[in-house]
Amino acid sequence: MELTRTDKEMRDGKFGRLSAEAMDFLIKFGEAYDARNMIDLDYAYVYLADINIWRKNSNSHDLLEEVKKEKVKCRIPTTSWIVGTEIDRGLYVQNCYPQESIDQIDKETEICRELGIICINTCTPYLVGDMATPALGSHIASIESSAVTYFNSIQGTRCNRDGISAFFASLTGRYPNFGMHLDENRKGKYLFDIKAELNDSADYSALGYYIGKVSGLDVPVLKGLGRPSVEEAQKLCSAMAVGGAVSLAHIIGVTPEAPNEEAAFHGDRPVEIFKVTNKEIETVYDEFHSSVDDIHFVCLGCPHASIHDLKKYAELYDGRRVADNVTVWVMTAPQNIFLAESCGFSRILKNAGVTLLSTCPMVNPGTPGPIHTFTNREYSVGNFATNSMKLVYYARNCMRPGKTFLGRAEKCVESSISGKWL
Ligand code: F3S
Repeated sequence: MELTRTDKEMRDGKFGRLSAEAMDFLIKFGEAYDARNMIDLDYAYVYLADINIWRKNSNSHDLLEEVKKEKVKCRIPTTSWIVGTEIDRGLYVQNCYPQESIDQIDKETEICRELGIICINTCTPYLVGDMATPALGSHIASIESSAVTYFNSIQGTRCNRDGISAFFASLTGRYPNFGMHLDENRKGKYLFDIKAELNDSADYSALGYYIGKVSGLDVPVLKGLGRPSVEEAQKLCSAMAVGGAVSLAHIIGVTPEAPNEEAAFHGDRPVEIFKVTNKEIETVYDEFHSSVDDIHFVCLGCPHASIHDLKKYAELYDGRRVADNVTVWVMTAPQNIFLAESCGFSRILKNAGVTLLSTCPMVNPGTPGPIHTFTNREYSVGNFATNSMKLVYYARNCMRPGKTFLGRAEKCVESSISGKWL
């Protein structure tokens, strides 16, 4: 692979051990994917815990010492998803979240401060400020599959589905030129002609799951979708990355590089055309649906809810109360909690018995109940309902729910008030 003099110097340790480890990884990573060269990046979105997983026996205390000793700084604008802020501390205590895990979060926050990384603490970096919205066509590195798909498909920035590579890219400002960074891999393969009626962001979630399942790793092209709202696009993108491993979908007239079909298919023809009707959408709902029953846990906001979502949930819950045996979590970015407080939405949700938090049940700090789910194999969240395809999919695999329900936001809210899936 072609390397610049600085790439080589960095690999050879001129800028410290951590930067050398980062560059060495990126070079090997690129070689594994036949990258011909490295490119400059404009932004990285990282998950700090990845480094400890990568180094196997490492911990955040050692990393913090190393960062301080080497005085290393991130080389490009970087934001991080630490998972959990002060806002969620009450919940950690309530759920007996282990103290060492809380300490770990504090250490990671300190490391970010040392490195110059902005802790945005949300899985929706594209919703919370200009540090996370680089210009069209720019090359970035990003964790979080839903964000990757959103970055590529809606913003027109270029990134792969990264893990530790995003953190190392932040330290070096460089990335091997392969995958979604290359024009030829951004060519559409299948055409989805959308004829289904889509009335709620949950419908976009179901649509995304169907498209992801059919597309796998390839690039779908979506025709007839109109102009989805931010919330609809979020749900669509996250579900495509769950049904399959879609990193980019061309939405005709929305994706900046796909103003028309010709551009989306790079002048070629689709390999196959799929017509999507209400039937396909209902099939997805049916797959994740159980028969009517009591519900115990309802989650809204996966990926993290926008401020418009919070407004909608506040309107739906205004003056009402969640049933006694039901827990409702609404997950959003800490920045949105701040806004929701000033707009009065938080108060309405709190009065209704809804918990507003800035993490999510999949990553931290476990699910409602006396014991943290991930440390207690016997524990179940009970019957689980959500408006997110991504969350219902993961819940089935990781949260040991009784029954699962996937439905539109209104239905989730009404059901949480009645205590039964309506
Ligand atoms: Fe975000 Fe958790 Fe969903 S990280 S995308 S709310 S599973």
